[in-house]
Amino acid sequence: MTDSAFAHDRIALATETDAFERDIIEGLSRRQKTIPSRYFYDDAGSELFEKITELSEYYPTRVETSILLRHAAEITDGIADDGILVELGSGSSSKTEILLDAAPCLAAYVAIDVSPGALAEAALRIRTRYPTLEVRPVHSDFMQSIPVPHDLARHRKLGFFPGSTIGNFEHDQAVKFLNDLRHAFSNGDRLIIGTDMIKDEDVLLRAYDDSAGVTAAFNLNLLARINQTYGRTFDLDTFRHRAVFNRDRARIEMHLVSTEAQVIRFRGHIFRFDRGETIHTESSHKYTLESFRELARRAGWHPRSTWTDDKALFSVHELVIG
Ligand code: SAH
Ligand code: AVI
Repeated sequence: MTDSAFAHDRIALATETDAFERDIIEGLSRRQKTIPSRYFYDDAGSELFEKITELSEYYPTRVETSILLRHAAEITDGIADDGILVELGSGSSSKTEILLDAAPCLAAYVAIDVSPGALAEAALRIRTRYPTLEVRPVHSDFMQSIPVPHDLARHRKLGFFPGSTIGNFEHDQAVKFLNDLRHAFSNGDRLIIGTDMIKDEDVLLRAYDDSAGVTAAFNLNLLARINQTYGRTFDLDTFRHRAVFNRDRARIEMHLVSTEAQVIRFRGHIFRFDRGETIHTESSHKYTLESFRELARRAGWHPRSTWTDDKALFSVHELVIG
């Protein structure tokens, strides 16, 4: 890495640390305390997420992977010879390989993620497995901007947003994000996007409160990250993981429950917790096929194909522009 690349990384880290601090203060000042879920993904958080994907209770990864494998030819059909694959929230880029195997003609793979460790590891693996493919990891918050590298901008794009990460957005945020993505793309470009479906409450709760406690560790890692970044702030033994299904809003919510009344001091601010009070750390919205298509239309995309599994646990949508 060059000196200027190191300097760029230091500036990016400082900016991210400032944004994290602002978001913590703003979030803990609300009546329902909250911290945005994107902060789950430091290196430890990304590793814990990968462990979640291996749990028998966490069906989304397994089911989406099987849908992609079954329909890979259809999904990648019509990709132009010099087309590029642009993945949002690429994480370990595991599902990406299904599309890369089905579309060996792709000119480049752009992976956008906020987790530097996951991004670097995935880029190394993809480069090794697909030596002729140009791989461009981009460390960025896709809610702020969708940075498709300028020299690749003229290529036909296939967007890929798997994992039901869109479910972690509020509906209005999801519409804004899809609208921004449409503007970063061109007429004729497509998006393949995974969404988790509304289903039996027990199945959902087991997926977000697994018996091995991996999801609990993932949730609590947010407080560990705050302690690591700013010095000891939270006593992790005084918070516990809770997952609830909010039926009215068709979403799983993850919370961190304070097991005692306590005062948290953070960067000159004081935050009081009642016993049982929670920090809302993540929402994971669930959709029907039609409720998601309607959301996509609100963002100016045209829903085309939809693929699902035989139990209708998960769905993969193809959206097009123009
Ligand atoms: N696509 C993978 C990973 C899903 S986990 C899969 O389907 O299994 C969600 C991923 O999105 C994580 O890798 C996380 O780092 C990334 N992410 C979450 N919020 C983000 C944001 N605001 N900007 C960029 N990446 C984000
Ligand atoms: C990345 N995201 C879609 C996952 C989800 O299911 O909402 C994150 C996760 N949270 C708990 N388990 C997995």
